[in-house]
Amino acid sequence: MIVCRSQSEIDKLRRVNQLVARILAELRQIVVPGVTTEGIDVLAERRVREAGAEPAFKGYHGYPATVCASVNEQVVHGIPSSRALGSGDIVSIDMGARLAGFFGDCAVTVPVGRVSPEAAELLRVTEEALFRGIDRVRPGVRVSDIGAAVQQYVESHGYSVVREFVGHGIGTSLHEEPQVANYGPGGHGPRLAEGMVLAIEPMVNAGKAAVRVLSDGWTAVTKDQSLSAHFEHTVVVTRDGTEILTLLPEDEARARQLLAAGRAVETREGRPEAAGLPART
Ligand code: MF3
Ligand code: CO
Repeated sequence: MIVCRSQSEIDKLRRVNQLVARILAELRQIVVPGVTTEGIDVLAERRVREAGAEPAFKGYHGYPATVCASVNEQVVHGIPSSRALGSGDIVSIDMGARLAGFFGDCAVTVPVGRVSPEAAELLRVTEEALFRGIDRVRPGVRVSDIGAAVQQYVESHGYSVVREFVGHGIGTSLHEEPQVANYGPGGHGPRLAEGMVLAIEPMVNAGKAAVRVLSDGWTAVTKDQSLSAHFEHTVVVTRDGTEILTLLPEDEARARQLLAAGRAVETREGRPEAAGLPART
C-alpha cells in the first residue's frame, strides 16, 4: 500500500527533509582535500542530534554510520573511514534522519578539489537525470515513467544506470512502497496520487551498469571500476506536480533552470506527446 500523506504529515516531512538538506549543504563545504569520510560523518551526526533528530541509517540493518560516503568507483553505501579524500576524487554523501516520527533522505555527489572534465560531466548528467525524473512526477503518472525518463537521459550520454538499488517511498519508515527504479520501460507500476512521498535517487556509472558489494557487506562498487555518481531528492506529489522537500530556498533558482532545460529538449523532440503524457508547461 502506498500512503498518501495529509497536509500536517507533509509539514513534518518538509521539516525533516529541509534539515537533512541543510546539513548536507554544510557537509559539502567541508569536502576539501585531506578531510576524511569519518570527519564528514562525525559532523553529520553532531548536526542531526543538535537538531533533536536521529540518524536514519545508523543501526539500519546494522549500518554503522550517519552518512554513506561513496568515493569514485564506489556507487552507494560506502562506510565512513579514516580514508582522506584527495583532489580529483568525487564523493557521494547520502544522509537520512528522523524527526518527530518522520524521515528525510537526500544525497549529493561532490567534487574534491579539482576534478577531471569527465568526472564533472558525470556529476552534471547524474543530477540532471534526477531532475528529469522529478519532472515526470504528478498525479496520474505511473511510477516507472520516472525511471524511464532517468534512463533515457543517462543512456543518451553514454552512461549506465545501476539496477540493483532503487529509490523508494518514505514517510514514517525510511523505506516504504513503492520502489522507484531508475530505468524503464514507462507505463508500469502504480499511478502517482497527491500526497505520495518518494525518494528518487539515480546512481549513474560512467562505464557499465554492473556493481558488486565489497566484503564489508555494504560498499557497492562498479565491477569495471568506472566512476559512479548518486543524487537523491525526496519529493511529494502535489495537486498539479511536485514539491521537492529536500530543496533549499537558495537552490530553487538552479532547480528551476534544470527543469526548464529538460522541458526545452522534450518540446523539441516531442517526447512527452510520443510517450502519451501531457506536455508540461
Ligand atoms: N539513501 C539510501 C537508501 O535509501 C541509503 C540507505 S543506507 C542504509 O537506501 F544504511 F540505511 F541502508
Ligand atoms: Co534513499
